[in-house]
Amino acid sequence: MTLPSVLLCSGVLICALFSSTTCEEQRGPGDKLLVVTVATKETDGFRRFMRSAKHFNYTVQVLGRGQKWAGGDYLSAPGGGQKVRLLKAALEELKTKEDQVILFIDSYDVVFASGPKELLKKFQQAEHKVVFSSESLIWPDRHLEDKHPHVREGNRFLGSGGFIGYISNIKEMVSDWTGQDQDSDQLFFTRIYIDPAKRTSINISLDHKCRLFQNLHGALDEVVLKFEDGRVRARNVVYDTLPVVIHGNGPTKLQINYLGNYIPTSWTFESGCTVCHEDLRPLTDLKDSKHPVVVVGVFIQQPTPFVSVFFERLLKLQYPKNRMKILIYNQEPHHQRHVSSFLQDHGGLYQDVKIIGPEEETGGAAARNRALDVCRTDEDCDYFFSVDIEVVLKNENTLKILIEQNLPIVAPMITRVGRLWSNFWGALSGDGYYARAEDYVDIVQGRRAGVWNVPYLSSVYLLKADLLRSELKDDLFTSRLLDADMAFCHNFRSKGIFMYVTNLHSFGRILSTDNYQTSHLHNDLWQIFNNPLDWQERYIHENYTYIMKDKLIETPCPDVYWFPLFSDVACDHLVEEMENNGGWSGGGNVDKRIQGGYENVPTIDIHMNQINFEKEWQKFLLEFVAPITEKMYPGYYTKCSSPLNFVVRYKPDEQPLLEPHHDASTFTINIALNRKGVDYQGGGCKFLRYDCSIQAPRKGWALMHPGRLTHYHEGLPTTAGVRYIAVSFVDP
Ligand SMILES: *[C@@H]1O[C@H](CO)[C@@H](O)[C@H](O)[C@H]1NC(C)=O
Ligand SMILES: *[C@@H]1O[C@H](CO)[C@@H](O)[C@H](O)[C@H]1NC(C)=O
Ligand SMILES: *[C@@H]1O[C@H](CO)[C@@H](O)[C@H](O)[C@H]1NC(C)=O
Repeated sequence: MTLPSVLLCSGVLICALFSSTTCEEQRGPGDKLLVVTVATKETDGFRRFMRSAKHFNYTVQVLGRGQKWAGGDYLSAPGGGQKVRLLKAALEELKTKEDQVILFIDSYDVVFASGPKELLKKFQQAEHKVVFSSESLIWPDRHLEDKHPHVREGNRFLGSGGFIGYISNIKEMVSDWTGQDQDSDQLFFTRIYIDPAKRTSINISLDHKCRLFQNLHGALDEVVLKFEDGRVRARNVVYDTLPVVIHGNGPTKLQINYLGNYIPTSWTFESGCTVCHEDLRPLTDLKDSKHPVVVVGVFIQQPTPFVSVFFERLLKLQYPKNRMKILIYNQEPHHQRHVSSFLQDHGGLYQDVKIIGPEEETGGAAARNRALDVCRTDEDCDYFFSVDIEVVLKNENTLKILIEQNLPIVAPMITRVGRLWSNFWGALSGDGYYARAEDYVDIVQGRRAGVWNVPYLSSVYLLKADLLRSELKDDLFTSRLLDADMAFCHNFRSKGIFMYVTNLHSFGRILSTDNYQTSHLHNDLWQIFNNPLDWQERYIHENYTYIMKDKLIETPCPDVYWFPLFSDVACDHLVEEMENNGGWSGGGNVDKRIQGGYENVPTIDIHMNQINFEKEWQKFLLEFVAPITEKMYPGYYTKCSSPLNFVVRYKPDEQPLLEPHHDASTFTINIALNRKGVDYQGGGCKFLRYDCSIQAPRKGWALMHPGRLTHYHEGLPTTAGVRYIAVSFVDP
């Protein structure tokens, strides 16, 4: 058998099993200590281990690479005998000095918190030839409890996941091994330890107070992160120790993932995230045609606001469209028009387009499985990018950023505005649901920026296709017990594949879909309460925020203010909504809709309450008009109480103009909803006292003027087309 003599993995010296001489020549500074570990597979956990080993210049020998693991599933049953067999064989081969110190540890769930020097010093201080990690829980045979020596303070039981000792003593210890690969290594070492004769002759003790080793199982409450100058350690608060080797043994994999986000220097207060910029896959210099192929899965599983805006954003995503294949799963008939209008207008830009429509009656989990299959079975597919329809991706570079991060699966962190809700969990409760991690709030609020190993993510993520063809071949969303999203994450966790969320950039947010009514033509107009930010972006004029800053406000007539308020879309939606309602008043003096039932100066109009838009309009006045009113008419505070809000229609053959009149208001808002010269001719508004007219109203701009006494005014004749304005009589 020929094996490579020296393997270099991520810069760490790894000695292959049968080549200890070559190995010795290349020893690093940590050469008094040889770390030996068994890793049949290069898992994400193994890479994390090696990164921490490299950081401290440990010399690591990896046993069992590429071999089949027969040591059992340590989560469900004892096992691990294979590790002892491999260690025994390796030690027999190893030609080294008798005083060589060996550290034998697991690697998938271990990180180093400090270097070889400290470890060796603490080993010397333990004054034994072999020192095992300790545990507070006895496992796997609790009948052996009484046989364990009593300890005054500290853990009483042996943990086989980590020990350190002189090679000769360790050789002696493992020489008796004749067990099977699936037998328990922990039981084997425990039996040696509880045998007083062997304990003494091999000279074994336990690291009772976690000075060298911290096993996390049974000790979760004992361990906290300790941030010190530029590095992070774990501190055992019960024994006040700073262990060197941190081991997420047994069911504490998520805890070691959490600690591993920091230890030893992955994230520090001084430098932020240091691992975020390692092993990237840069796209910057690539030609479009060399970009990885991404299957983008869009999932519509409930009526959702701003779906047309979602597709506008998808279109703006910075990525070569001929390297994207779009797959849209839409369960909602209501959204079919949005989907088809997007595909009709832009579908041709993409390399491929597929739809799973409501008529297929495919469930959510099945659809997601199918979507993954599309990527899995398409040999061109490099990535699967999953986006749920309620995700608002504000960052046009999201896809590029995620690809460049080069991780198995990574989600851009998105949050719900003003809430602590996000698309990841930092921890899991005992029954697998959400639990708050200690750093959750800092991450969600961006005080800690990085790329975080987390147990659960959802809503939007990028997944490497080769995983789908290797370790994740099954239907990942299918489960008899779990919801689809939880089943998906469970599959990653059980395979030891790390899931990451990044908040290195700001990516966007997630919409609230609560109580989304689809009974109107433009339902999004009603979203001012549920999704105020999205409502504002959609419906408020893009220059509204500059009104005050840049003095965008104009005074076309005395005490008449003119400013941009509505977006074009807002104007169009409101007009279309009114025309769709069609309940235009007759323009007579008798009007049952108003108090008193008599209108002095009637218009052809529809009141906001006829389309159930009263509450929303009120909110809009308060949020977007009141601040301007109070600026322009100082000392006047408006409650924006406004019982009369309506859209007026002027038409040459219907009602072209409005006679001079006062408004029944303290002040009036008059928003032009369409464009002079394009949609109509004529129109405008004249204030008689000042002999001042606004001849060319601007679409989306509002006029604000006092209602009574001074601002007697008239609506000038519309001579062609149709003119619409939205009017509010505020504070009558
Ligand atoms: C590891 O070794 C390198 C090169 O010899 C050295 O620059 C670095 O300081 C060492 N790191 C530690 C933590 O000792
Ligand atoms: C165990 O080893 C230490 C030094 O490593 C030594 O001082 C001690 O006497 C040994 N104990 C026995 C029982 O041999
Ligand atoms: C907003 O202001 C900018 C700068 O004056 C202008 O170019 C742009 O057209 C304005 N937007 C709208 C919708 O009028």
